[in-house]
Amino acid sequence: MIRPVLWRDNAVVLIDQNALPQQYRRVVCTCYHEVIAAIRDLTVRGAPAIGVAAALAAAQGAQGLSGLPPEEFAGKFNGICAEIAASRPTARNLFWALERMKETLAALQAAGSKNPARGLLAEARRICAEDIEINRRIGREGCALIDDGDSLLTHCNAGALATAGYGTALGVIYAAREAGKKISVFVDETRPVLQGARLTAWELKKEKIPATLITDSMAGFLMQQGRIDKIIVGADRIAANGDTANKIGTYSLAVLAAAHGVPFYVAAPVSTFDFSMKTGAEIPIEERAAAEVTGFRDTVVAPKGMQVYNPAFDVTPASLIAAIITEKGVIAKPDARRIGRLSKGDKNK
Ligand code: MRU
Repeated sequence: MIRPVLWRDNAVVLIDQNALPQQYRRVVCTCYHEVIAAIRDLTVRGAPAIGVAAALAAAQGAQGLSGLPPEEFAGKFNGICAEIAASRPTARNLFWALERMKETLAALQAAGSKNPARGLLAEARRICAEDIEINRRIGREGCALIDDGDSLLTHCNAGALATAGYGTALGVIYAAREAGKKISVFVDETRPVLQGARLTAWELKKEKIPATLITDSMAGFLMQQGRIDKIIVGADRIAANGDTANKIGTYSLAVLAAAHGVPFYVAAPVSTFDFSMKTGAEIPIEERAAAEVTGFRDTVVAPKGMQVYNPAFDVTPASLIAAIITEKGVIAKPDARRIGRLSKGDKNK
């Protein structure tokens, strides 16, 4: 299985997602500062994967605090978590994982733990292992929505690479294939960072799932021709009313899907929901460097000094989403009421 984030020999070991697909190599982060840099520069990316990397980074930082009195340990640990939290603003899973780590420390200290750093590492590894299990459940829940012979479209990479393993949107596709359904996938290249062309294309090829790469602007034409049965994407943060932030370009796809009567699905773990935000308007949208838009890597295409706007995510209104697929069930026609049941732990149908 593709495992983009691992703990090995006191280091956070990542698949270098900037090197794929030309090179498959691992990056070894021996201190939490290196993990922060890897999150920032997209060596590790995708909301759940960022959350797992953040938890392991926090645990790694805690190793250096061993022996400190509880209050000082907690103060310094919270400081480390704040540094990690500043790496990227949009993916809810990053903050969710760090909150869980801080709560774990509080519980360990309340129980009089002599070695909280060890307990924190165990918790971070649990977050990693749980993520794979959650994705498999998302896959099983979403599988029912996919029909034999479906032609699907996905955007960005919400696959194994974007999680601890297996994937969310691609997890549903893998589960459908495991259930014996014959499916094919159109892969949006996903300008400007090309997560679709580089990462989803690589994953689907590796998994031997029939896939065709298109540029983002071709999706509407394919829908008009009736060549897309369903769209399935991941999410970076979902507000309490179901508005969903995901990779830039997702909103345009959802509008096109509505215009052509194509069901538009979001697959995400419960940890991606932000129940503190009433609507998507509150979701912070990351803006990234101009160089991502003026060219790709060493190739510059725009004139020097060109003004650029580069939001990395957009928000799709819940009204355009046919269903949100979670590990706790499928939320059809998501709205605040149906999602509210999820926050209370009920299974949503
Ligand atoms: O900028 P990225 O590559 O981190 O953006 C990733 C996405 O938008 C994914 O679709 C999202 O995080 C879901 S990953 C399961």
